[in-house]
Amino acid sequence: MFRSNTPITDWSDRHVWIIGASEGIGLALAQALKLQKAQLTVSARNEKRLQQEFSDKARILPMDVSSNEDVSKVMDFLVQQETVPDTVFWLPAVYHPGGILSLDPEATQQRLHTNLLSAFNLFPRIVRYWSSNPLIKKQYHWSWFSSLAAYRGLPNASDYGASRAAISHLAQSSHLELKRHNIDISLISPGFVNTRLTEKNEFKMPLLMSPKRAAQLTLKGLKSGNFETHFPKRMSLLFKFLNILPIDLYLKLMRVLK
Ligand SMILES: NC(=O)c1ccc[n+]([C@@H]2O[C@H](COP(=O)([O-])OP(=O)(O)OC[C@H]3O[C@@H](n4cnc5c(N)ncnc54)[C@H](OP(=O)(O)O)[C@@H]3O)[C@@H](O)[C@H]2O)c1
Repeated sequence: MFRSNTPITDWSDRHVWIIGASEGIGLALAQALKLQKAQLTVSARNEKRLQQEFSDKARILPMDVSSNEDVSKVMDFLVQQETVPDTVFWLPAVYHPGGILSLDPEATQQRLHTNLLSAFNLFPRIVRYWSSNPLIKKQYHWSWFSSLAAYRGLPNASDYGASRAAISHLAQSSHLELKRHNIDISLISPGFVNTRLTEKNEFKMPLLMSPKRAAQLTLKGLKSGNFETHFPKRMSLLFKFLNILPIDLYLKLMRVLK
């Protein structure tokens, strides 16, 4: 109906940078994009894992996104080589299950550094570069991975949920600001995906899907040109409904269900 972004139907002319490509959804996305002939650059902290998966398939740039030094080094390298990718997927996140009362303040701040603050380091550098080096035939594209946990407060989501809500907010505000610079911004909001991140959960996760399926749905979403790609639909539509309830009704309902 209303398309916010230019649909991405052909990946063969894109240079895609997947940040968080050593595991989970990012790894599956890189594998799917390789099959679609995208040129790939991959990053994460674990260089050994990246070498195992991508030694002859992608350019490997190990980086801890929470390290200013790493981010500056990688960015300088890309600019000097004139090989700044035109499309970025941002996935880094760490998760620790548990409630507010059991939070360790120092560990929590470290997680928030990765999950939120680091986004404000690389992202502005990339989009500044993009806005001063416009493309002729296509749009630049930055895709933020957030979560259905971003929509409304959930019990035991504490710092992780708050970081996802902030990323979803940043996705919207950056979309509004950067559209006129020919930069598309999209938001991916998955439900439960079977990865290292969710294996810490002790509860049964409804509609748990494979990383491969999550990657397929992500690419399908980008093909549609919609700002947000959310899945699985049975869960995301329920979350969207909960999101429009008056807040006191929502809180009461959640207290009863808990
Ligand atoms: N799994 C789910 O159910 C689910 C649901 C909703 C949303 N999501 C979102 O999807 C994204 C990916 O999650 P996932 O489940 O695929 O997690 P995952 O399997 O743990 O993968 C996370 C990726 O991020 C990288 N990473 C973590 N910290 C980093 C750092 N400081 N610097 C650079 N890279 C870092 C990891 O690599 P290294 O450890 O090698 O650095 C890894 O490649 C996250 O944004 C998450 O919030 C996941």
